[in-house]
Amino acid sequence: MNFFEVINSRHSVRNFSEKDVEEEKIKKILEAAQKAPSWQNRQPWYFIVVKDKELIKKISEFRPLTLNINIFLKKAPVIIILVSKRELSGSRAGLDYFLVDCAIAMEHLILAATALGLGTCWIGAFDEEYLKEILKIPKDFRIIALTPLGYPKKENLLGKAIKTFAQSKKRKELKDFVFLNEWGKKWEL
Ligand SMILES: Cc1cc2nc3c(=O)[nH]c(=O)nc-3n(C[C@H](O)[C@H](O)[C@H](O)COP(=O)(O)O)c2cc1C
Repeated sequence: MNFFEVINSRHSVRNFSEKDVEEEKIKKILEAAQKAPSWQNRQPWYFIVVKDKELIKKISEFRPLTLNINIFLKKAPVIIILVSKRELSGSRAGLDYFLVDCAIAMEHLILAATALGLGTCWIGAFDEEYLKEILKIPKDFRIIALTPLGYPKKENLLGKAIKTFAQSKKRKELKDFVFLNEWGKKWEL
């Protein structure tokens, strides 16, 4: 796949085959994250690669009184957790860059996974305290995101429902978010 084929074929995958992911491939996608740019090259990210089946089950589990749409994580052979904290990167006018740095690294990882035929899904809805506890993450760190990683399987009903709810296939037109030279000046590309 060339770069644009990777960009165009990436989509959130919510159903996985039981096939294990080769360690060489996991290493490759982590190396893609390693290459990401960051504020003053601070590289404020940590990745926890979870392969332990019991832990994966725990991560995906419902917590009492918590809505868990991410139950599909249970079938993923690998889950990758992105961890950081504000102090590891810079800030400007109240804008904390650790989130930016981490998001770039995560997207590098996600695109590398796509290029290797693997599926991912950025997960932002989770019970952070619960995950920190089971993964033994120090209290002063934050979990930024997680993603399952595995070989994609045909989309199931849950995946279809989430895609419909999130209107995942829709994208704004360029004319609705690109301005030419100044704010509000439309550019009809
Ligand atoms: C910050 C962020 C948080 C997200 N959280 C979740 C989530 O908790 N569960 C989920 O199934 N998808 C989640 N998604 C995936 C989005 O729903 C998905 O990227 C969007 O609908 C576009 O679909 P696509 O990724 O298939 O192109 C999240 C994506 C982002 C970027």
